Amino acid sequence: MSLLKLEHVTKRFGGLTAVSDFNLDLQEGELVGLIGPNGAGKTTIFNLITNTYLVSEGKIILGGKDITGMKTDKITAEGIARTFQNIRLFSELTAFDNVRTACHLRLKSSVLSAVFGLPGYRKEEKEIDDKAMALLKTLDLEKYKNDLAGSLPYGLQRKLEISRALATNPKVLLLDEPAAGMNPEETLALAALILRIRKEFNLTVLLIEHDMSLVMTICERIIVLDHGVTIAHGLPKEIQNNPEVITAYLGTGDLYA
Ligand SMILES: Nc1ncnc2c1ncn2[C@@H]1O[C@H](COP(=O)(O)OP(=O)(O)OP(=O)(O)O)[C@@H](O)[C@H]1O
Ligand SMILES: [Mg+2]
Repeated sequence: MSLLKLEHVTKRFGGLTAVSDFNLDLQEGELVGLIGPNGAGKTTIFNLITNTYLVSEGKIILGGKDITGMKTDKITAEGIARTFQNIRLFSELTAFDNVRTACHLRLKSSVLSAVFGLPGYRKEEKEIDDKAMALLKTLDLEKYKNDLAGSLPYGLQRKLEISRALATNPKVLLLDEPAAGMNPEETLALAALILRIRKEFNLTVLLIEHDMSLVMTICERIIVLDHGVTIAHGLPKEIQNNPEVITAYLGTGDLYA
């Protein structure tokens, strides 16, 4: 079943067309890679899906519902979560509190019951603590729970971002270069982790990544962007042997890095 659809999506910044007539039909449960050289328009697509940037043209549809132009927090509530290429954590808060604050986006209690510490609120707070702890465990981060997020190595900060994204109960998870800053061993573990959380949380995943070993191993299909244009779309094997893709990457050394 089709879960997330982008139809003829275009984004212009002044005279620059960062994304041009982009189409995507993400099926429920799929893991799709979005690759392309620097500046190809990959992150812009995430910013369009989450309405961080408003589309210039085109439509974004989630589970049959048109979400184009919907507020970003509403889109989160509809079931789309993302991580950021430039990590966005509360660096002065602990890992645990970073996940807790993300869980709070789902809070049901009113401000009044929070102020008066009513039982409903206290119960919800306990549920949030438990959920945050469970998410840290899922990402193998429990031993860092009291560490300040800003003091963690890059690779762990990226995993903490994933746990924050999961805290909003997404259907679709958008990962923007999750392996950046990770060594080959950590990247291998990340591949297994992405597959595990997809299963455990029933996720559909769109993955932006420059690490081709990761993309080619775990993605079921891959879309390649260059200068905002989709230049190829296919199975990992097809993409690796596609002359246009190889040309787009020539000189960057990324494709077979
Ligand atoms: N807010 C903005 N204003 C103007 N131009 C922008 C803006 N955001 C992105 N761009 C431009 O759009 C193009 C695509 O950028 P984008 O960040 O989507 O690339 P990317 O594929 O994610 O690249 P990278 O692999 O380096 O992260 C670039 O030319 C970039 O400079
Ligand atoms: Mg990017």
